Amino acid sequence: MNRRGFITIMAAGSCTALFPAAFYGCVASADSQNLKPLDPNETDIRLKLISYAMLAPNSHNIQPWLIKLTGENEFDLYVDQTRLLPETDPPGRQIHISQGTFLESLKIAASGFGYRVEIVYFPLGIYSDYKIEEKPIASVRLSIDSSIQQDFLFPWLQARQSNKRVYEDRPIPLKVLDKLRTLSGEKGLSTIYSDSQNIMKSLGSILGKAMEIETAASKRHRETVDIFRFSEEEALAKRDGFTLANNGLTGFTRFLVESFFLGTKEKAYATDSSFATEGVKMTYKQAKSAAAYGWIISENNSRLDQVKSGELYARVNLLTAQLGIGQHPMSQVLEEYEDMRNLQKEFLTLLDIPSGSTVQMLFRLGYASPVPHTKRRFVQNIII
Ligand SMILES: Cc1cc2nc3c(=O)[nH]c(=O)nc-3n(C[C@H](O)[C@H](O)[C@H](O)COP(=O)(O)O)c2cc1C
Repeated sequence: MNRRGFITIMAAGSCTALFPAAFYGCVASADSQNLKPLDPNETDIRLKLISYAMLAPNSHNIQPWLIKLTGENEFDLYVDQTRLLPETDPPGRQIHISQGTFLESLKIAASGFGYRVEIVYFPLGIYSDYKIEEKPIASVRLSIDSSIQQDFLFPWLQARQSNKRVYEDRPIPLKVLDKLRTLSGEKGLSTIYSDSQNIMKSLGSILGKAMEIETAASKRHRETVDIFRFSEEEALAKRDGFTLANNGLTGFTRFLVESFFLGTKEKAYATDSSFATEGVKMTYKQAKSAAAYGWIISENNSRLDQVKSGELYARVNLLTAQLGIGQHPMSQVLEEYEDMRNLQKEFLTLLDIPSGSTVQMLFRLGYASPVPHTKRRFVQNIII
C-alpha cells in the first residue's frame, strides 16, 4: 500500500472506529492534499518519518529544519539558519521549540511504523541561548522493533492543526482539562491550564496589547507580512507560511477581507495598514473568545529546555486534536525585545510565574470548526 493509501485509510479509521466522538480531526483530515511533502512511493523510512515530522506545529509555519542523512538509518537535524525570525524571536527560542515539535512528531510517527528511535540531543554540544551555531540539534537513529507500541497520538499527526478562529462561547468541561493535565514533560517542565474568569479577562487584554506592540515596529511587522501568503497561488508556490483561510477566515468574511482590507504585500508593510490594524483587532477577539488557556513553563531556558518544551507542546497539540478542541499558540507577549518587557512583566505576575522560569508556550483553547491545513514544503527541500 502506498503512503497516501495508508494515510487515507488511517484517517477514515480514526474517524469512524477509533475516535467516533472526535469530529474535529475527521473534517480536518479532509484537506490532506496540503499535507503530502513526500512521493507516496518513497520507501526510505527516514524520509517517510521526516514527512510526518514536518507536519508539526512550528513558528509562523517557517519550517526551520534541515536534515543531513548520515547513515543507512541515521540522520542529523539542524536549524535552517535561512529560516529564522530575528525580529520577533531574537534569541531563536521559538525556532528551537519548533525543533522539539519536529522531533516529537518524528518519534510518534516512528512508533506508528514499528521503529525504535534513539536520539542524541546536541551531539556536538549545546550552544548558548542567544546565538545559533551550526551544530546539530539531534542525531537520530532508527531501528525496526516489533515490540514497539504505537503511540496513542499517532492517528492525529495528520489531522492536527492550530485553530485561529474566534472560538464558540462554550466552556471546556473540567474532565477534558483534566485529561490535558495528564500530559507531563521531563523534569523541570510543567504545564498549567486555567479557565479562571479573572485570568482569562486579563489575558484577553494583555494579548491584544502584545499584538499592538509587536505590530508597532515596522521591522517586526514586516516579518509577519513576509510569511503571510496573500493568495492560494502564493501559498502553493512557497508551501510555507499561512493564509487568511488558515487563520479561519472563510466564505463571505474572507471575500470581504480580501476585497477591502487585505491589499497587497507592499501596502501591508505599513504599520497603520488595514492588514496591521485588522490583525490587532482580530487578536483581541481571538484572545477574548478563549474558553481556557494553557502554558508550558520551564525552570531553565537552555537550548535543550526549549527543544524539550517543543516536544511536550507537540503532544499537547495532538491531544487537543484527539479531544476535539481547538488550540492556538499566542506568543507575542513571550517575545524577547525591549518594547515587550513591561507588558511581559505584567503577564508573568498575573500567571504567578516563579522568578527565573520561562513561559515557553502560551495557547488558548476552545471550540471552533476546523480550518484548512497550512501547507508544508517537500521533504527534499529540507535535505542537505
Ligand atoms: C513556537 C511556536 C510559536 C507559535 N506562535 C504563534 C503565534 O504567536 N500566533 C499564532 O497564530 N500561531 C502561532 N503558532 C502556531 C503556528 O503558526 C502554526 O503551528 C503554523 O502556522 C503551522 O500551522 P499548523 O499548526 O496548523 O500546522 C506557534 C507555533 C509554535 C510551535
